[in-house]
Amino acid sequence: MVSCTKSLVQEWEKKPDGEVIDIASETLRLTLKIAGLTLFSTDISDDSSSLGKAFRTGFEFVNYKMNNLVTPPLWFPTPRNFRFRQSKQTLDNLVQEIINSRRQNPVDSPDLLSMLMAAKDEETGEGMSDEQLKNEAITLLIAGHETVASALSWTWYLLGKNPDIAANIQDELGKVLNGNNPTFEKLPQLDYTRRVFEESLRLYPPAWALPRVSLEDDEIEGYFIPKGTIITLAKYVTHRHPEFWENPDEFNPDNFLPSKVNQRPKFAYFPFGGGQRICIGKSFAVMEATIIMAIVSQHFKLELVNSHPVEIDPRFTLHPKYGIKVKLWKRS
Ligand code: HEM
Repeated sequence: MVSCTKSLVQEWEKKPDGEVIDIASETLRLTLKIAGLTLFSTDISDDSSSLGKAFRTGFEFVNYKMNNLVTPPLWFPTPRNFRFRQSKQTLDNLVQEIINSRRQNPVDSPDLLSMLMAAKDEETGEGMSDEQLKNEAITLLIAGHETVASALSWTWYLLGKNPDIAANIQDELGKVLNGNNPTFEKLPQLDYTRRVFEESLRLYPPAWALPRVSLEDDEIEGYFIPKGTIITLAKYVTHRHPEFWENPDEFNPDNFLPSKVNQRPKFAYFPFGGGQRICIGKSFAVMEATIIMAIVSQHFKLELVNSHPVEIDPRFTLHPKYGIKVKLWKRS
């Protein structure tokens, strides 16, 4: 995470001061790179990567399906369906190739695929099948990159709108890191930076809708819910509900001071879901975001381009429709 962010920052350092970039797409490229490397030790963010290309085409299709109520069935021969089927096949083949080559030459790669391949069922002692490995790997790739990128895009936006809070992050980084890279040991001390991220997940929860199916007939607050109904919990609404939050639309990282957290009902805030299916990547995401925020803020001041339109687009994640444009100013 540190080295990927440092290499992005080095790329930006070659740009003239004040250059405008879309920080949302830059962050997406970064989180895809981190996901590919931590998962398979492969950089799939590169335009030349066939795995990356197939992944992006497939992912675009998922977004299209989620945003259009009526779409032709998969078997129908439209160009979009064809592209999706082709990219799915490529993705399956390439991930299978990675698994095959790992099985033939077991290397000691410090990545998640190696951990999944080494995992054994506690009761049967069996490892995962290739199909399971492939499905796990692709799920983690999908669940693990756009979510973090969306969250960070909104964080940059909120920091641009609240320069006093960006300045507080600078103070903390100076005190804790003193110009050095964030390390595993130092991360817990970046308390304010983490709270800023938590608050940004409150205002703009990337996984904005959480569906569940009712197992039995039920009644909630007078509403009858028949068995088998899909219920969608709307985080965006709960996270801004005046019953749980003072000045709900205000960006205030102090909402996550322990004293404040203890006063609220547990599920007033659930960006990562809850219960048995709580996000498995929660710690990964918070660590990644804190590292990226720290390194980018150490090297650059980001000034929001106020004339650029900012609009929420609730797709697979809650992402900014037109990106987030900022001017990059190097810190001396
Ligand atoms: C800010 C970033 C993230 C957010 C907001 C987020 C949010 C969520 C939510 C709401 C769920 C569904 C939980 C439920 O149904 O109760 C979920 C599931 C999941 N997430 Fe995340 N996630 C993030 C990052 C990640 C990362 C980085 C990874 C992987 C490295 C990941 C992997 C997964 C997986 C595999 C599941 C399915 C878990 C299961 O069904 O058992 N997520 N995530």
